[in-house]
Formats: sequence, structure tokens, C-alpha cells
Amino acid sequence: SVGSSTNIRFHEGAFTRQERETLLGRKGFVIWFTGLSASGKSTIASALEQHLVNNTIAAYRLDGDNIRFGLNKNLGFSDADRTENIRRIAEVSKLFADAATVAITSFISPFRADRDAARALLVAANIPFVEVFADLPVEVAEQRDPKGLYAKARAGEIKDFTGISSPYEAPITPEIHLRTDQISVEDAVNSIVQYLAQRDLIA
Ligand code: PPS
Repeated sequence: SVGSSTNIRFHEGAFTRQERETLLGRKGFVIWFTGLSASGKSTIASALEQHLVNNTIAAYRLDGDNIRFGLNKNLGFSDADRTENIRRIAEVSKLFADAATVAITSFISPFRADRDAARALLVAANIPFVEVFADLPVEVAEQRDPKGLYAKARAGEIKDFTGISSPYEAPITPEIHLRTDQISVEDAVNSIVQYLAQRDLIA
């Protein structure tokens, strides 16, 4: 009979990440976008999510709409709140990856130490972390200004605005560096997809 005498023991639902990935036939990892407001990071993250899901890869985007209005609605834009914002997003992306899902995060994440802490958290759990720098000159972001936020920041109506009155610390060695003022959204997605395939994260 099945029981202690036969040394058969249920896992009680506690799969390791590897077991879950093998059973589900999918992989969990994190694609971490960083860049100024109006850098194009959310547009590219969104197009990437579409591309992956269209190819039956379980990907899910975390961004301001579902995080700053929900989980992180008690946080503002002070340095301390941004650090806490990113810390929580890193923890949530770890849960998504552990559930064998590709987490695509799209936050300014302006502080290098916070992004490095996110990377360390994931790498310690053996979860691949791909940092994508949506890079463009702040002047170009300010010209784009789709939400009129740079103008408000210049007028002193928004304090601590990234790139104007709050720092943005560019990544030094991101896995992927996109000059978003020079390439199309489609080319950006293609170069990320190519990188993921090269690393065997997707087929
Ligand atoms: S952070 O720095 O990573 O915690 O920021 P994030 O969670 O990505 O939120 C950035 C969006 O919030 C709007 N917003 C501001 N951005 C920067 N600085 C200040 N002070 C600020 N106040 C509001 C802005 O619309 C950002 O959206 P994106 O999509 O980046 O343009």
C-alpha cells in the first residue's frame, strides 16, 4: 500500500521552479526595462509582451498602471518611495518567474543600486535577469513629452521629476541597450527577441 512503509511521499504541491517549468513546458525569467519618462520603455515592453504571448509564451507586463494604482498606491516619487517601489516590483517579478512566467517590468527605476538589488534578488534565486536600457537624450524625451509632465516639471508644478529635478542613473552594462530615439519599436522588439533566443530563454 502507499504510505510510510513504501517511502512514497507527496510533495504537497511544493514544486521546485525547475519541476514546474518542466511540467508546464515554459520558463520563468525577468525582462527589466529602465529609462526616462517618455523613453519608449512602456511602448516597447507592451509590443514585446504582445509578440511573446502571440507566440504562446506566457509573459506578463508589470507597469505603473497595474502597480502604482494598486499594490504600490501608497508610494510617491521621493527617493525612498522609488526604492520601495522597485523593491516590491522585484519581489513580484520573482513570484511571476517562479510561477514559470516571463515578467516584463516597465518602470523608470532611476537608481542603479535599486536595479542592482533587483538583479541580485533574482540571480540569487537562479532566475535569469535581462536589463533593457531604453536610452534617449533627455532633450528628446522632453520634446516628446506625451503627458506634458516635463513642461509641468519645468514650471515647478511637479517636484522631483526624473531627468529634470531628480536623477536618472544610466545602466553601465545592461544586457540590452536600445537607442530609442534611433530605432523603431519593431526593431527594438526584434533585437530583444533575438537576444532571448541566443540565451536559450525562448525557442
Ligand atoms: S520609478 O522612478 O521607477 O519609481 O517611477 P515609475 O513607477 O516608473 O513611475 C513613473 C511614471 O509616473 C509618472 N510620474 C513621474 N515620473 C517621474 N518623476 C516624477 N516626479 C513623476 N510623477 C509622476 C510618469 O507618468 C511616469 O510614467 P512614464 O511611463 O515613465 O512616463
